[in-house]
Amino acid sequence: SEKMAGHGEVLVSTASAPTNIAVVKYWGKRDTKLNLPINSSLSVTLHQEDLQTITSVAIGKDFEGGDRVWLNGKEETDLASNKRMQGVFSAIRERAGDVVDEASGEVLVPSAELKTYKIHVVSRNSFPTAAGLASSASGYACLVKALSQVFRVKEAHEGELTEIARAGSGSASRSLYGGYVKWEMGTRDDGVDSRAYQVKPEEHWPNMHALICVVSDHKKTTSSTGGMIDSVRTSELLKFRAENVVPARMKAMEEAIAAKDFPAFAELTMRDSNQFHATCLDTYPPIAYMTDTSHNVSRLVHAINNESSSGPICAYTFDAGPNAVIFLEEDHVEKVLKALLADFGPDSAESSEPFVRGQTTLPAADCMEAHPLSDANKHLRGNLKYIIHTRVGPGALEVTEEEKVLVDSATGLPK
Ligand code: DP6
Repeated sequence: SEKMAGHGEVLVSTASAPTNIAVVKYWGKRDTKLNLPINSSLSVTLHQEDLQTITSVAIGKDFEGGDRVWLNGKEETDLASNKRMQGVFSAIRERAGDVVDEASGEVLVPSAELKTYKIHVVSRNSFPTAAGLASSASGYACLVKALSQVFRVKEAHEGELTEIARAGSGSASRSLYGGYVKWEMGTRDDGVDSRAYQVKPEEHWPNMHALICVVSDHKKTTSSTGGMIDSVRTSELLKFRAENVVPARMKAMEEAIAAKDFPAFAELTMRDSNQFHATCLDTYPPIAYMTDTSHNVSRLVHAINNESSSGPICAYTFDAGPNAVIFLEEDHVEKVLKALLADFGPDSAESSEPFVRGQTTLPAADCMEAHPLSDANKHLRGNLKYIIHTRVGPGALEVTEEEKVLVDSATGLPK
């Protein structure tokens, strides 16, 4: 995918990365510079067919204007000089290898020189940032993957790249791998043992699906970074959770995943989300991420599960915002989607984009026709903006298709 490369030339590499949703949540840091957490966490990687970041990196000796970053078509000058971004750049530069001609073995650019190259990052999300879906996880994972490729970084130990992504954004450590991923908190001050591992690949439990319920009214809420600082400082419940609840829950969650025990997975997931939001309310002053709509989705999930004689068939989880992510096995998607649409379906057929998108496509008009609303719950209609149907998927990947590359390989500028 790459033409080589003497002096004055531009090196380009491209990667894609997924988002992930934690089922044992990361909340609270023991070191805010390195993003070292107060507890371990565990997540499911979502499929890149439905939600994905693509990042191209161009590096060049002669780039004027230093390191630069373009996000979703717009140059972000603050981001390029941001501490976390620069931290990732220097962690990668420190580990740069030689650029070697594959055929002859000749060193084209020695690592000492490669380190001095300036960096251009051009990145795009396949999902709307305004929907309030976490983009820092896929964003930093993708950046680290693309940078590691172009700077010829070879991991000195398994998971070294996840440490670098972690320093960009904690949850990004888990987006390098597919399937079911844990981030071990570690104990060292330098963070070398705070990295992610794959618990099971996506093929182990491939019929794990998710319905992302995007809530209509998005007010600006407290950022994860800021919220965690306040929670660590003021919440005794958070300290109790980290020390006395999470260690056993991590073990139980790993066992539930190994056994593909959905009822166990579901109860642990819902309890963990609820406890995370309880620690937010225990923060002083309190942080409230869930809205009335969030609580109404949670109630519906419990109502569906109460009717099941074989234990829970769906599980909600909420992050630092009001959107619900509902995990469920493929067999139950139709039933749960039907129940969601009956309560929270669209209130207008006039929408250019389908109300259900991703693995299933359903235009708003079809939803309204197929799922007439129960009178009792008429007030809930319109409270969701749309639903993304997705499933468990693979981790970060190198992208080689020329049409997906976001930078011009001659100039190093966005295409
Ligand atoms: C609620 O990874 O976004 O989604 O490390 O400050 O960048 P920073 O925070 P971030 O926090 C994610 C918090 C969460 C839970 C989780 O993903 O584990």
